[in-house]
Amino acid sequence: MKTKLSVNINKIATLRNARGGNFPSVLEAAVNCQKFGADGITVHPRPDERHITYQDVEELKDLIQTEFNIEGNPAYRPFMDLVLKVKPHQVTLVPDQVNSITSNAGWDTEEHFDFLSEVIAEFKAQGIRTSIFLDPNPAMVESAAKTGVDRIELYTEMYAQNYTLSNTNAINPYLETAIKASELGLGINAGHDLNLQNIEFFAREIPKLSEVSIGHALICEALYLGLEKTIQSYQEKLKNASL
Ligand code: PXP
Repeated sequence: MKTKLSVNINKIATLRNARGGNFPSVLEAAVNCQKFGADGITVHPRPDERHITYQDVEELKDLIQTEFNIEGNPAYRPFMDLVLKVKPHQVTLVPDQVNSITSNAGWDTEEHFDFLSEVIAEFKAQGIRTSIFLDPNPAMVESAAKTGVDRIELYTEMYAQNYTLSNTNAINPYLETAIKASELGLGINAGHDLNLQNIEFFAREIPKLSEVSIGHALICEALYLGLEKTIQSYQEKLKNASL
């Protein structure tokens, strides 16, 4: 099974917002990413709308012919309402703080068990697949499964940091967490700091990896390679990993 590539287009919005106009257009970028071979589009609207705006998310819905994944913190009620209105294929629940630069931790699924169970039920009642962002910690998977969630998203920052130092040590906690998730019938996604150097090893080593969502590195790499070539390079690596 080849892992799907969902392109996170938040960075396109960051660039657009730097000048206040509509260039580059996030809608055009979403259409082109799909044309260039992406299997899905991810957005992560923040409460302050500093990257993708709520309006962008609503306008994107009709342009996504592949898979639409919206990430965010369900503790912020307007985020819940946005997702319930747009009804993407998947919502990824992330415990990010309002002021954090980017997502920097997975859920404590024991502490937030009741809250997660409630919001997951609300999304699932609308036919939206649910995923929760988790650190590579098998202990968190058991209570995650009991919330009724469909998938976990492995938070890969630590993998990316350790990858060049020791690949085996870098992958082991992720492998243990993924095996536990599979045993409990959960699907597996991954994201954060994945790039053209570290993606193939990760996708090869983690069994049944359904989807990776990649933003920051992909857009940086596209500065040199171009967006089309970059997306194709990721897809080649994901294909190689599945052979
Ligand atoms: N997954 C989650 C939950 C995220 O918050 C982010 C960053 O917005 C990503 C994946 C993608 O990370 P990166 O931009 O480093 O590829």
